[in-house]
Amino acid sequence: MLMLDARTLAAQLRQPHGEAALAVGESMNRSNAALNQAAIALLAVTTQERGLEIGPGNAAFAPLLLQADGSKYLGIELSSAMVEAGNQGLASAGLADRATLRPGDAHALPVANASIDAALAVNTLYFWPDLAPVLTEIARVLRRGGRLCLAFGDATFMRSLPFSEDFQLHELDAVELALRVAGFSVCGWRAHRETAAGNDGQRRDKHFHLLLAQRR
Ligand SMILES: C[S@@+](CC[C@H](N)C(=O)[O-])C[C@H]1O[C@@H](n2cnc3c(N)ncnc32)[C@H](O)[C@@H]1O
Repeated sequence: MLMLDARTLAAQLRQPHGEAALAVGESMNRSNAALNQAAIALLAVTTQERGLEIGPGNAAFAPLLLQADGSKYLGIELSSAMVEAGNQGLASAGLADRATLRPGDAHALPVANASIDAALAVNTLYFWPDLAPVLTEIARVLRRGGRLCLAFGDATFMRSLPFSEDFQLHELDAVELALRVAGFSVCGWRAHRETAAGNDGQRRDKHFHLLLAQRR
């Protein structure tokens, strides 16, 4: 369990850094595993598709995204510690030829126009004060008909977390509207609920939304 005060934990979740970074990465993987599995199942990457994950931490769930033959994975991550750890993990798993993490920011993705078939962002919306520029940037890199899956905590649930004070919380209908304005059609929604420990080690009832959208 991470022994960090609420403010330090929040800063680490925003961008894992320093001595705690690797432990934070492992904690996020434990805490967010079921949500990531649900989001990856909804995104359903198929044969030969090129997937993009934004804010993947150490990319522990990349192998799940790479189950379809010939699929490729690119993770764009703000934290250099996560990029390094993630690329080591992908190499150890024998996936370095199909998957890589690059340093970068969701607001200016180092990715070519219309080059991505399927994009994923789990638990990263809280660090985007304004959704519009990021969703427009994701729309730029997705091909027409490409999918985006966003997974994020229900705003009421998130407000109950002691470490979410500085997080930007987004209501479900506001995210849907922002997706439409940025050039997506919303084509799927799931609720994800589980009772499990969070990054602060406290067990609680969790409530998330998963939205699937298609680039128009
Ligand atoms: C709370 S963690 C979630 C990690 C992982 N997606 C999961 O579900 O366990 C948020 C991650 O997004 C990254 N991040 C935050 N803002 C970002 C941005 N603007 N661009 C790219 N990555 C970002 C952070 O460095 C961190 O690794």
